[in-house]
Amino acid sequence: MKIYIAGSAVTKFGELWDTSSQELGLEAMSSALRDSGLKTTNLQALFVGNMLSGILSGQEHQGPLYAELLNSSLPSFHIEGACASGGLAVHNAINSLLSGRYQTVMVLGVEKMTDYSSELVSQALMAAGSESERDAGATFPGLYALLARSHMAKFGTTERELAAVSVKNHYHASLNPNAQFRHPISIDQVMASGYVADPLKLLDCSPISDGAAAVILTTKRIPSATEIIASSVASDSLDLASRANLYSLKATQLAAVAAFSQAGLKPKDISVAEVHDCFSIAEILALEDLGFFSPGKAAAAVANNQLTLGSSTNLVVNPSGGLKGCGHPVGATGIKQIVELNHQLKGSSGTRQVKPARYGLTHNVGGSGATAVIHILKAHD
Ligand code: COA
Repeated sequence: MKIYIAGSAVTKFGELWDTSSQELGLEAMSSALRDSGLKTTNLQALFVGNMLSGILSGQEHQGPLYAELLNSSLPSFHIEGACASGGLAVHNAINSLLSGRYQTVMVLGVEKMTDYSSELVSQALMAAGSESERDAGATFPGLYALLARSHMAKFGTTERELAAVSVKNHYHASLNPNAQFRHPISIDQVMASGYVADPLKLLDCSPISDGAAAVILTTKRIPSATEIIASSVASDSLDLASRANLYSLKATQLAAVAAFSQAGLKPKDISVAEVHDCFSIAEILALEDLGFFSPGKAAAAVANNQLTLGSSTNLVVNPSGGLKGCGHPVGATGIKQIVELNHQLKGSSGTRQVKPARYGLTHNVGGSGATAVIHILKAHD
């Protein structure tokens, strides 16, 4: 059975203080319906990826909340998997289609974070960490700083190489009208930004963001539609202290093996990827764990501009601007990645269009790597 993307849409990402989460969700869902040419009555289920509404606003019951906005009583499901909530919602939607129960479903990812203080949001995000990490007062910048230090110790990765990830992704975001940050930055600016958790500085971090994204998936053949040809999930310990090492993420490695096997492809077949760069080090880990580079080799490739739009090599990474430049409304990110690649594979990405590409990959991570979700997309023939 084949899975087609019938329609997709993303809202602006950023500090959207005048827009509620429901307004963002409705905008993404309505735009995806318009893009598909379908009506709400054509949908058989709604999957909603959201991490923080329960903690920040007290609103847990996300499925029917958004079904009601569609004026529909269709079956609705709230999927939570930390920052991978969006990717997990897509995975669950695909499983429902593959089971044969539904033929056409909507997947919405939505998050509203900027109405709350950074302290409160940091604490809420730590719901994705382990109890002992929370008890120790850890934050996500702190946990990823440990991963960065380990990678630096093992492979000699430098802070300037990490900075190059943010420089690339801000450049890509400068070309994306929906991105939170539209200004390019330099390595020196990253290096001069203050430490949040040594060695990670402000400009190594993704921001706190609002935004929504939606896709409509169907098993009904649409000749001009992008296909999703692989969807995989793997888990690892919540607690960093329980991991075999801190210079790679096992869940990404396992999900990658499963996804490439489902698709019958190898990393070299992928021309464009949206990977989970919640911190600069996270993109380096992703590039190695997904098999695009051998361990210790990704940082130099980013620093040499090999993965930047317009480079002569075969792989562009995070053309949307990634989490760093485009923003990271956590429940929406995994779905925004799929919307971005749908446009890239259809050739409708405007000034940030990659060279004609047949296959793209999305990689969405929850917590410090306890959940990894990978999708592989194929352009229409
Ligand atoms: N990158 C670039 N600029 C940023 C930024 C970021 N990540 N975060 C904030 N800024 C900018 C703001 O736009 C603002 O600029 P302005 O003064 O020109 O308006 C300025 O820095 C101060 O913003 P503020 O909101 O006060 O920052 P903060 O110190 O409260 O928060 C971080 C900064 C890094 C702590 C916060 O962005 C953060 O926690 N990021 C990580 C989010 C996270 O962990 N996500 C989950 C990943 S697993």
